[in-house]
Amino acid sequence: MTSTLSESYQQTAYKIRGSGERKVGLLKETLAEIPDDTPSDIYGTGAVIEDFQTKMAQVLGKPAAVFFPSGTMAQQIGLRYWCDQKQNKKVAYHPLAHLEIHEQDGIKKLMGIETILLGEKNRLFTLADLKKLDEKFACLLIELPQREIGGQLPSFSQLKEITDYCHENGIYVHLDGARLWECLPYYQKTAAEICDLFDSVYVSFYKGLNGIAGAILAGPTELTEASKIWKCRYGGDLISLYPYILSADYFYEKHIQRMPHYYQQAKLLAEKFNGAAKVSTLPQVPVTNMFHLHFAKNSDETAAFLTKLQNETGIGITGNLTVISENECACEISIGESLDLIPAAALAELFTLLQDFAGEQTDGKI
Ligand SMILES: Cc1ncc(COP(=O)(O)O)c(C=O)c1O
Repeated sequence: MTSTLSESYQQTAYKIRGSGERKVGLLKETLAEIPDDTPSDIYGTGAVIEDFQTKMAQVLGKPAAVFFPSGTMAQQIGLRYWCDQKQNKKVAYHPLAHLEIHEQDGIKKLMGIETILLGEKNRLFTLADLKKLDEKFACLLIELPQREIGGQLPSFSQLKEITDYCHENGIYVHLDGARLWECLPYYQKTAAEICDLFDSVYVSFYKGLNGIAGAILAGPTELTEASKIWKCRYGGDLISLYPYILSADYFYEKHIQRMPHYYQQAKLLAEKFNGAAKVSTLPQVPVTNMFHLHFAKNSDETAAFLTKLQNETGIGITGNLTVISENECACEISIGESLDLIPAAALAELFTLLQDFAGEQTDGKI
């Protein structure tokens, strides 16, 4: 029986992406050192949640922070707060913002907020795009890095120009920092230095940090206090969130110092992929630990090739492909601990075999 791309990926002994599979063992690892009699948080109170919120407020350089079960909830609430301050229920963001394409229109249907799509889908928006907008809106959301276009980043000076322009024009700026930790090595800044450009920020603990789930929304105390009320309204004020909080803290400490390494590894790997004909990365030189891997062939041919490649080398690249056009498909790669576990010879073999991709016939022979 021939395996599918997804099956072949699952069966590989090594993975290029991530920091290991999402299994229950992660929670056990988190809790291994935690004393059994540690009291749970109760509806947003207690040392477990309060200490972590204080720690993250400091890391992000903001007066206060609130822990949420999800970034989806945290950001809809953060943006609503800024809209209420301006009495203007409009926010602007990139056309491929998570809120626009992955949240079933929660911001519009639950919060009644109208969204303005800034710039074009296939690139970062610029100050010039912003200046062209003639509508008034309460808040601009900036996602760092812009995931859906391979994790691209503006330079720090471009970012500063955009946020300065907003502040000069009475527009709040919120940071979708789902992958903020992953941007720090490129910017050579601390999280607090980057967040200083923004009025509020959301960060995640399960992307590059590989935690279980959970998010922090940080900003002025008025925002965090109002957002606790919204968290209750949204059903996010769970009696106990400690499995997420303890894992968020554990995985933050485990991976934060490793981000420069993951970034360097992403650059090296992208260079190798770019060495194969009809294979390319976006961006060509990654600016974080992530990039998109593009194949200049249709998804069926590419899937057949990758399935054989994965079966033969035991190295997983991807289990799924996104169709870009009739003759192009892509997948997302983000680097964590797993890449380091792959024996160098096996990885070299993978890139040797990848050279055959351009000449590959439709029958899937390597
Ligand atoms: C850029 C970005 N923002 C927000 C979110 C929402 O995070 P959560 O899954 O915690 O709701 C995600 C999740 O993938 C994301 O990638």
